[in-house]
Amino acid sequence: MKLLIVANWKCNPITLREAEKLFDSIRKGIKNVKNSEVVICPPFVYLSLLVSQEPSSVVSFGGQSCFWEEKGAFTGEISPLMLKNTGIKYVIIGHSERRKYQKETDEMINKKLKAALKTGLKVILCIDNISQIPSFLRKRGGRRGRSPLRLKKDLSGLVKKELSNLIIAYEPIFAVGTGKPCSVEKANKMRILIKKEVLNKKIPILYGGSVNFQNAGDYIKKGGFQGLLIGGISLNAKEFIKIVKDIDLN
Ligand code: PGA
Repeated sequence: MKLLIVANWKCNPITLREAEKLFDSIRKGIKNVKNSEVVICPPFVYLSLLVSQEPSSVVSFGGQSCFWEEKGAFTGEISPLMLKNTGIKYVIIGHSERRKYQKETDEMINKKLKAALKTGLKVILCIDNISQIPSFLRKRGGRRGRSPLRLKKDLSGLVKKELSNLIIAYEPIFAVGTGKPCSVEKANKMRILIKKEVLNKKIPILYGGSVNFQNAGDYIKKGGFQGLLIGGISLNAKEFIKIVKDIDLN
């Protein structure tokens, strides 16, 4: 499987011109990359414009969030179906900044997760700890355990194929946007714990949180992660390209 390198632009940049410039530099810089899939997640206002400027599919696109309903009277929301119909393949769900500033709860995140998977999007579910893994994805259903009946019920809404579109990103809150990355050893321990906890061992696990050129390769080579979720540094085309190329070659 290819490594997954996801650029989360968050609420940046502030003009379409800058977004186009950044995107164009990244696209040109990574066009010969072979072993990695690069996913750009710009703010919604730029998303469809950038998609229309990318006929060659050098990069894939992702939304930074989505709602759980398909359509209707939900002012300000973007549905998973809208993303899918716009040619977007991925969506980030449960990012710690949305949990913090938009007060997204585990319940809301579960609803979004199920809706996005059912729509056929690939979902990057961000977690800071094991308890944020929804019970329907866990072997034992969390602390209280789970009966076989419960398991059947929880999974009834999703088919195997939809579940195979799930990716988990371990993003420790202390490392997100702080410039204080998690040590590779600690991150690796967490990765192993996540693998043990989830129903499907094949779910790819990414690391995110203050990734930079110095530490990026280590999370893959020493930490065993199958990719990275990169915030701040992904706004610097030069640095981001350097990270992608370095990972792709080694
Ligand atoms: P950061 O953000 O790389 O700026 O720490 C990571 C993220 O928000 O996914």
